[in-house]
Amino acid sequence: MKYIKDQENLKDKIILLRLDLNVPLKNRVIIDETRINKILPIINFLLKKKSKILIISHIGRPNGKINNDLTLKPVCENLERKTNQKIKLIKENIYKIKKEEIFKNLKNQIVFLENIRFYKEEENNDINFSKHLAKLADIFVNDAFSCSHRAHSSVTKITKFLPSFAGLQLETEISALKKVTSEIKKPVTCIVGGSKISTKIGLIKNLIPKFDNIIIVGAMANNILSYKGNPIGRSLKETDCKLVIDDIFETAKNYSCSINYPEDVAVGKNMDDKAIIKELNEVSNDDVILDIGPRTIERIKNIIEKSKTVLWNGPAGYFENPNFANGCYQITKKIIEKNRKNLIYSIAGGGDTIAVLNKMKAVNDFNFVSTAGGAFLEYLEGKELPGIKALD
Ligand code: 3PG
Repeated sequence: MKYIKDQENLKDKIILLRLDLNVPLKNRVIIDETRINKILPIINFLLKKKSKILIISHIGRPNGKINNDLTLKPVCENLERKTNQKIKLIKENIYKIKKEEIFKNLKNQIVFLENIRFYKEEENNDINFSKHLAKLADIFVNDAFSCSHRAHSSVTKITKFLPSFAGLQLETEISALKKVTSEIKKPVTCIVGGSKISTKIGLIKNLIPKFDNIIIVGAMANNILSYKGNPIGRSLKETDCKLVIDDIFETAKNYSCSINYPEDVAVGKNMDDKAIIKELNEVSNDDVILDIGPRTIERIKNIIEKSKTVLWNGPAGYFENPNFANGCYQITKKIIEKNRKNLIYSIAGGGDTIAVLNKMKAVNDFNFVSTAGGAFLEYLEGKELPGIKALD
């Protein structure tokens, strides 16, 4: 792998910089800025080298269509304030953009392309789209470790058409994860939550041989609850998961890994509601499960108590509404309590999980916090991430 930090002669070169600025948003307002703060070193490095920086990122999952709620405008404005630079956001169709026009008449060195996932070609890893992107720049830099599990045009295929390098944050994250995973102490507990069910449910099976406990919470757990025959009302759920879940429980039988999922829940009628604690069989048709219940929390705390390492990816509930943040709050509190006595090694990953920790001012109480969510879990699985392989 070649690193951008080792390159000379970057002056006036157009650097196509793939970042992960997929920050949590609520009504177009950024609710956690960590992913923006983490890319400041690469921006400052390239500014110092007098390069021209053409930023690519996605935000959310617009499924190949323009969606004004998922514009990069708020991120661009936030970065303007942080760098003290006017930054242009190009909203024009990417196919109409010409390299020589991008920085023409611009005093400043940073330009943003609009959300790359507005183009279906991005997620299809489309060769012509990648070639077109490559024509806009001289060099490609991947500083988005948290997207490197995606075989997408601006992460993977692009590397075929431009000299490609690893960025500063990507290097930091990989070396930190390498270190922590090689020194891992047992018993190891992995808490997997959040709402990206399709991304995560398939990889749980591969985590089973590596861990002593897997705790499934958040919207992820709804699929398990429904599989076990419990009503889940109008809660978020992925379709066609039966075989994957069969596989999870079948695999767990062959290893000494215990699979844990909620035994009680907190529900509301909508996301802005108050929380009502319910037994699993009490969930009604118009309920939405939005957090774990107190007995589940106690069980998780007991498991953490007996663990030497905890890896956490994905919130336990809809923490954006404080009424449903208790699961996240109690898990964080327990990990902090053990961490402060040096009794546990704690690693957290993912945009939403970081938002939880920031809300609780707990980031510094974890041994390592990765910006990556899905990529972090796939790395733990031992998979080769396509975006990293492409740089090799
Ligand atoms: C993430 O938040 O994990 C990355 O931005 C990747 O997003 P995705 O799961 O929508 O591909």
